[in-house]
Amino acid sequence: MGLKPVFVDVEKDTFCIDPSLIEAVISPKTKAIVPVHLYGQTSNMDEIMKIATKHGLYVIEDNAQAIGSDYHMPNGDVKSGTIGHIGCTSFFPSKNLGCYGDGGAIFTNDDQLAASMKMIANHGQSKKYHHDVVGCNSRLDSIQAAVLKIKLAHLEGSASAVAVDVCDAQQVAALPEVLGKHTVDVLINNAGIQHVSRIEDFPADKWQQLINIMLVGPALLTQAFLPAMREQNYGRIINVGSIHSLVASPYKSAYVAAKHGLLGFSKTIALETGDCDITINTLCPAYVKTPLVEQQVAAQAKENNLTEEEVITKIMLEPMPKKQFVSVEELADTASFLMSPSARNITGQTMVLDGGWTAR
Ligand SMILES: Cc1ncc(COP(=O)(O)O)c(C=O)c1O
Repeated sequence: MGLKPVFVDVEKDTFCIDPSLIEAVISPKTKAIVPVHLYGQTSNMDEIMKIATKHGLYVIEDNAQAIGSDYHMPNGDVKSGTIGHIGCTSFFPSKNLGCYGDGGAIFTNDDQLAASMKMIANHGQSKKYHHDVVGCNSRLDSIQAAVLKIKLAHLEGSASAVAVDVCDAQQVAALPEVLGKHTVDVLINNAGIQHVSRIEDFPADKWQQLINIMLVGPALLTQAFLPAMREQNYGRIINVGSIHSLVASPYKSAYVAAKHGLLGFSKTIALETGDCDITINTLCPAYVKTPLVEQQVAAQAKENNLTEEEVITKIMLEPMPKKQFVSVEELADTASFLMSPSARNITGQTMVLDGGWTAR
């Protein structure tokens, strides 16, 4: 390719490229900056991206020693290797994610770059025996691909979704088979909806639907996954309850009944699973700023002729000494502790994140 590498020294604390030394070596011939992330640490990508933008350069992240790491960008966490124009990794067995021989991968969000990189890696071919550019033989060997296909599924952050109606006993019962070889260590019952109405006007089918989604659903899913959890002698079941598992609000009879019911369900299953390392608990948050709550804020503002801010302060956060919404992160961290082996003796419990609401 006729490219000449120009070295830039590293920071003494991180061993990653020192951004303050980059500009001194940029010349009119410079094409790209290649930060090498090391020891699971990502280089200072904010600074590197600023320099690249200023000088019109590509950034190619070498992610072979940090694949899977999170990088804190000002507007949220992103994965290392996804910040520059191209991320690359080696799958050599000594690397963080290794195959059984030589291999590697290149990542980009740029379709044009992707097309030309695919071509270069396959003898410069766009279609069989049509060599548009000079390329090389850099195709991933099928045996290595087979190994990686299994290992990649375990890379942190990999996720896939299976849509299921939690009220449909047949669909839920078929789930373990749909998931195939994936073991289920943790079951989080989180599906929920709301309907607000005086009991006299509450449609019977709505009442039934709320109970089905938020109480029968968790029971069906627990039924479906307990056998495999028992077999591996490990399981953590977390029911997402609510402050309404403990207190009531008018016009939410079905929701409050379903969420109260979850506590009884959890306690019963806690007793039934006392003989193995399986726990079941209910998380009870006060208001979390989710789309469900945002809709309620808007609806209540209209109904009560209040501003949305007034609904939040005068209605929602009023009973809460701490006067603040519960964040998704707080809930996730609490759930994450309950999932851990250290929480093996916490079962049949109600974890209340209510800013002091029920202390009154
Ligand atoms: C950070 C980093 N990038 C790239 C490589 C080269 O990988 P490969 O030998 O698969 O070309 C290595 C190998 O040691 C490495 O540690």
